[in-house]
Amino acid sequence: MKKLLIGAIAFGVMIGSAAISSAGNPLGPCKACHFFDKGPEVKKNNLGPGLKGVVGRKISIEGVGALGDTWTEAALDTWLTNPGAVKKGTKMTFKQKKEKKRAKIIEALKGL
Ligand code: HEC
Repeated sequence: MKKLLIGAIAFGVMIGSAAISSAGNPLGPCKACHFFDKGPEVKKNNLGPGLKGVVGRKISIEGVGALGDTWTEAALDTWLTNPGAVKKGTKMTFKQKKEKKRAKIIEALKGL
């Protein structure tokens, strides 16, 4: 049941993000699962930690040992390429295979 619910949320996010990202905000797809104006102690919809100041910040989630302990631009790039490849079973279903789009996302994260 829980899995079904998560699937439904992820599906909703995908549809929502298509509309928002076409408006040109690289962080549009993140909105359903992350706050931008709050730190890691606050999770949105019980999913993603707040992303305020994330670039250069300590990694707050567990099980991403290979990335080190800080969200450097390189670590973010690896994570955003495919979170599921970094952490098996993660609930972050978003991934971005296109390098240019990831670069835009990371640029936008720097402003949070
Ligand atoms: C479907 C929901 C969802 C979407 C969409 C999503 N995320 Fe996440 N994100 C998560 C979840 C859940 C976690 C926690 C992962 C874990 O613990 O396994 C997470 C974790 C993170 C983290 C680690 C934060 C920390 O404090 O260590 C970063 C950075 C992140 N996401 C960035 C993004 C960005 C940037 C986007 C948009 C381009 C995005 N996420 C889209 C759900 C999502």
